[in-house]
Amino acid sequence: MAEETKNNDDVTRRQFFAKLGLGSLSIAAIGTAAFSYQYLEPNVLYEPSPVVNVGKPDRYPLDSVTLDVNNAIYIIHSQQGYFSLSAVCTHLGCLTAWKPELGIIACPCHGSKFDEDGRKIEGPAPKPLPWKRIWINDDGDLLVDRSTDVPPLAPDSFVRV
Ligand code: FES
Repeated sequence: MAEETKNNDDVTRRQFFAKLGLGSLSIAAIGTAAFSYQYLEPNVLYEPSPVVNVGKPDRYPLDSVTLDVNNAIYIIHSQQGYFSLSAVCTHLGCLTAWKPELGIIACPCHGSKFDEDGRKIEGPAPKPLPWKRIWINDDGDLLVDRSTDVPPLAPDSFVRV
């Protein structure tokens, strides 16, 4: 009787270790599968489109400079038409701000200043603020391609409505 109990205990212990081994192997297999899936999945960064819709032209009164903080661009409505500038300082990349009381675009980081055409007035910025491609779509909205620079003050760099 005591022998049978011992055998039952042995079997139970053996079964326990067998299940423990199977459980460990299962966890290892799941981990391996997860890492394999991550390895095989393309390592791609999904960035937002560089083309942004900045709305109807009548949002921008004549002789206004509007900073679009989310897209880091200015929409400027001048006598020649609408145009767009990058709002990112060409020194070290800070976001600039329009100062209406001074009529300039100023960088808060190291003091670069630009006029409303993006030309540098003073400061460490090595280049003017780049002009961005702007056009109007079939729905009458202004679109700006933040990835495409256009020549400053060129007739094609403006949108006229
Ligand atoms: S980042 Fe604008 S002046 Fe330095």
